Amino acid sequence: MPAPAFIQLDRLDDRAQAEEAIAGLTALRAQVAPKFFYDSLGSRLYEAITETPEYYPTRTEAAIFAAHGPAIARAALAETGAAPALVDLGAGNCAKAASLFGLLRPGRYLALDISVAFLRDALERLQREHPDLAMTGVGTDFSRRLALPNDLLGGPALVFYPGSSIGNFLPGAALRLLREARETAAGGALLIGADLIKPAAVLDAAYDDALGVTAAFNLNLLRHLNRLIGADFAVRQWRHVAFYDPVAARIEMHLEAREALSVRWPGGERRFAAGERIHTEYSCKWTVADFAALLREAGFSRVRHWTDPQDWFGVFLAAG
Ligand code: AVI
Repeated sequence: MPAPAFIQLDRLDDRAQAEEAIAGLTALRAQVAPKFFYDSLGSRLYEAITETPEYYPTRTEAAIFAAHGPAIARAALAETGAAPALVDLGAGNCAKAASLFGLLRPGRYLALDISVAFLRDALERLQREHPDLAMTGVGTDFSRRLALPNDLLGGPALVFYPGSSIGNFLPGAALRLLREARETAAGGALLIGADLIKPAAVLDAAYDDALGVTAAFNLNLLRHLNRLIGADFAVRQWRHVAFYDPVAARIEMHLEAREALSVRWPGGERRFAAGERIHTEYSCKWTVADFAALLREAGFSRVRHWTDPQDWFGVFLAAG
């Protein structure tokens, strides 16, 4: 029975992560990067968010693939040639990419996530279902830099970045990642999901669902920080704040102090006034024209897209 290979490119350095978190917490306007949402409970809470009725992106993107999968796959293979390497950014449980194996018939599958530990179970299960497909799990923090060793690819690749996770990057960092995705595609293509601008009420509800799952996801970041830096955040002293800013075309998420308080960790402390916030996430939204322009700015060409009937979400294919 073939087995997937696993490599960890960047060492996950807890100390560097802790220093990054403390630097954000002690900044003039406190902020903590969204990657700190995803401890093991945070990853499960994100899965739960995708099942809330208000959070439309995941199911809308899936509906686009269900309606247009064969056309998308034909267009992608016309750019990459047959049997491309499929490079899955932020693969997690690998389910989205696996649902395209039948249409794309990749020559090999590379699943990237911040830690190979997150990929092990999913890839081993997938390998049993697809014994003839070479699979590699790659642990790498591509939010800092996306670069794969040449011998892993061996030709034009289809880089797959679903879910509109590109929206969680600030514009400069998004452009940098897209440029690196183009280099990784090596003459192949990028298949990427992007959330589109829509009425503010729909967006506000998607990031502040009635069950409070998104609130729990945001607040759980404080528990993660308590473990990571030894802080003493009391979750009950904080509230979830999320709103759509139509001028910047993005959701902002924050944690807001319910009262004046102090947070301590070994070697440090920060006081928060009542109502003061920690910024935790942007989630950018685009028009089709703006996202296509961003892809072209990153060096891609022949940009095509597919949307749902309401034009709420776009799946874009761009030649590298
Ligand atoms: C992972 N990412 C695309 C999600 C988003 O919609 O920006 C993260 C999320 N934050 C709150 N809800 C979901």
